[in-house]
Amino acid sequence: MALLQWKDQYSVGIAAVDHEHRELIDLINRLHDQLMAHAGKTTVSDFLGELFNGISAHFALEEHFMRERHYDQLSEHKGDHERLLDEIRDIMDDFEANAATASGALAGRLDAWFSRHFETHDARLHRALGSHPH
Ligand SMILES: [Fe+2]
Ligand SMILES: [Fe+2]
Repeated sequence: MALLQWKDQYSVGIAAVDHEHRELIDLINRLHDQLMAHAGKTTVSDFLGELFNGISAHFALEEHFMRERHYDQLSEHKGDHERLLDEIRDIMDDFEANAATASGALAGRLDAWFSRHFETHDARLHRALGSHPH
């Protein structure tokens, strides 16, 4: 059973952003599967690195669209992106420090982390930009 499920209401109405949201959901689900299957520490560390890069690139893309369309809450949304990147760095550090204890909570932390941003900032972005397709 996948941890996260894509929902149509997640769509922000920008094809490139929607595509990346689906990819990130897929990455988090794959990480969850690895943890359930007790994958080795190196495998999970590498995967976390990949996830971090994917998320950084995704945030940069969203910020690009927000700037281009003069989105009124760019600085708040960008601030939350920065906070999320700090949090994922913490998650990665915790995992490096103690993989055994950190892995139990890891997928849940990522789910909470991702879903919250999705349902607040990205949903608002959807409402603001979704009705004006590119
Ligand atoms: Fe965002
Ligand atoms: Fe996003």
